[in-house]
Amino acid sequence: MAAPIVLLYGLLALGAMWFVRRQSKHRNAHHVMRNIPGPPSRSWMKGNVMQFFTRHGQEFQRDVALNYGSVVRLEGPLGRKILYVADPKALHTIIIKEEHVFEEPEPFLVSNNLIFGECLIGSLGDIHKRQRKMLTPVFSVNHMRHMLPVFNTVVFKLREVVLAKVREGEKEIDVLEWTGRVALELIGQGGLGYSFDPLDSEKEARNEYGDAIKSLLPAMMNIEQLRQLTPHLVKMGPRWFRRLAVDLFPNAHLQTVKHVSDTMSERSQNIFHEKKVALNNGDEAVLRQVGEGRDIMSILLRANTTASEQDKLPESEMIAQMSLLVFAATDTTSNTLARILQSLAEHSDVQSKLREELLHAGADTGDLSYDDLMKLPLLDAICRETLRLYPPVTILLRVPRKDSVLPLSEPVVGLDGSIIKDVPVPKGTEIIIGTLGSNVNKSLWGEDSLEWKPERWLSPLPRAVNDAPIPGVYSNLMTFLGGKRACIGFKFSEMEMKVVLAVMVSNFTFELTEKEIGWNVALVWYPTVGKDDDRPQLPLKVRLYKP
Ligand code: HEM
Ligand SMILES: *[C@@H]1O[C@H](CO)[C@@H](O)[C@H](O)[C@H]1NC(C)=O
Ligand SMILES: *[C@@H]1O[C@H](CO)[C@@H](O)[C@H](O)[C@H]1NC(C)=O
Ligand SMILES: *[C@@H]1O[C@H](CO)[C@@H](O)[C@H](O)[C@H]1NC(C)=O
Repeated sequence: MAAPIVLLYGLLALGAMWFVRRQSKHRNAHHVMRNIPGPPSRSWMKGNVMQFFTRHGQEFQRDVALNYGSVVRLEGPLGRKILYVADPKALHTIIIKEEHVFEEPEPFLVSNNLIFGECLIGSLGDIHKRQRKMLTPVFSVNHMRHMLPVFNTVVFKLREVVLAKVREGEKEIDVLEWTGRVALELIGQGGLGYSFDPLDSEKEARNEYGDAIKSLLPAMMNIEQLRQLTPHLVKMGPRWFRRLAVDLFPNAHLQTVKHVSDTMSERSQNIFHEKKVALNNGDEAVLRQVGEGRDIMSILLRANTTASEQDKLPESEMIAQMSLLVFAATDTTSNTLARILQSLAEHSDVQSKLREELLHAGADTGDLSYDDLMKLPLLDAICRETLRLYPPVTILLRVPRKDSVLPLSEPVVGLDGSIIKDVPVPKGTEIIIGTLGSNVNKSLWGEDSLEWKPERWLSPLPRAVNDAPIPGVYSNLMTFLGGKRACIGFKFSEMEMKVVLAVMVSNFTFELTEKEIGWNVALVWYPTVGKDDDRPQLPLKVRLYKP
């Protein structure tokens, strides 16, 4: 036979072998996946994964986190398998070691990009890396220190608002309303150097920009199904055509999202241009602005002038980050603050001890330095414990862009009794980051891991916690994620919670009412009264504390 033909047959044989191996590898992967324990599913058509994502998914999420082990199989529609992963080593692989393989699902990235523009949560790879390089230093502790006085001024105004309500005596107040107002104003002043709500009246000031950002989260939940289509939509024809298609699409929620997206980008642009003019006019003009030039955007604009050519942030990207920051900062922090106040109302002994600590340190005067405020032990423990037990973001997905394997810290026993040491995950497998599962893992945190016990942070943590390779950026917790896409604002959020609590718990007491509080699953968890009413609120009895 002629040499070329031998070569051809040889190549074909190699190709066939590769194909067979690949198929059997896939078969093996699917076998392992089917063999992983998980909650029962009553319907092959629908699966059970929607139980995880619905508003009343709290019980199901807890069941998944606690009762099946460190990796759990969920069923998607039409028999699709979805993995819930809480094992520390596997999480480390996803978030750190193979971060470039495990990316966010495309529909999320694409729709985030459509809504905000080219921002951190709408970009991947090199673009994301370049943006993080510019943005990360802006959130450093040093900048937080300079921002503290701005925070104090805002929180003192909040105190006056609440004071006006309870001066005559105890009153039932929706504390979520004011944690929401103060969170928006703090990211406004601290993030953009812009005021949404001067906090000078009992009623929240109306602001088109603020309203737009606030309505985005609920609207996004409503278009979840449509969001799945966006990767296909963006490939359809030129921009003007896609725009027209969106304009004509007969869906009220989609139209809301479009309106919000337009409003946000218009308002961000205006604020950006005002800032730029002030910066060009020199220090005097900057100092007259809200936030006195100490806000994140002003710092970023200054950093941009000295950054190297390839790091510089184009205007369009800067504007996209502005709306994203407000969006990412507001509901997360306000709902966490509400959860802390509820926990303090449930544990009045802890609340009294915290007040003692705060008054002893003079924390309500605004004279405490950043470092002294951060060091208050019980205040710190309360924040950490609440973020551990009640992470507000539990819908976090990743998808491997190629076939991959997740090694486990400890083997799990498959449904057929076999031992699984690592889990092959074929390209495209949907993975849910097991934030709650990791945060309440009993072999790490102890048998009392489901109890709210701030004291656990007042002595050294269990060795198991420190030894496990949990990839969380904050405090061995998955709450703010970790790795290259960790929450960029966790220091900002921590300072915000502490400033608000320092002042408010010094001056007021918080008690439960008769009303039953329920917590609802969404992109950010939120409280309601009972299960039927969907209005986010957290009523507590608030009284003026007089020493
Ligand atoms: C309790 C409060 C907060 C929690 C629990 C929280 C949690 C998270 C989580 C889990 C992520 C990762 C999301 C993902 O990869 O899909 C994230 C990302 C992010 N967070 Fe936060 N966050 C909080 C407050 C804040 C604040 C106050 C800011 C801004 C000042 C902020 C800005 C961001 C940004 C910009 C990202 C995207 C980072 C990137 O993709 O590179 N967050 N946050
Ligand atoms: C809990 O942590 C241990 C120790 O790292 C790990 O082996 C185990 O798989 C984890 N369990 C769950 C349910 O995540
Ligand atoms: C950053 O600097 C570059 C180059 O000077 C400029 O083109 C760009 O508009 C600047 N970005 C912002 C957000 O001002
Ligand atoms: C409460 O707030 C007022 C200012 O409105 C302040 O003078 C007072 O000392 C604060 N502290 C306590 C414990 O009431």
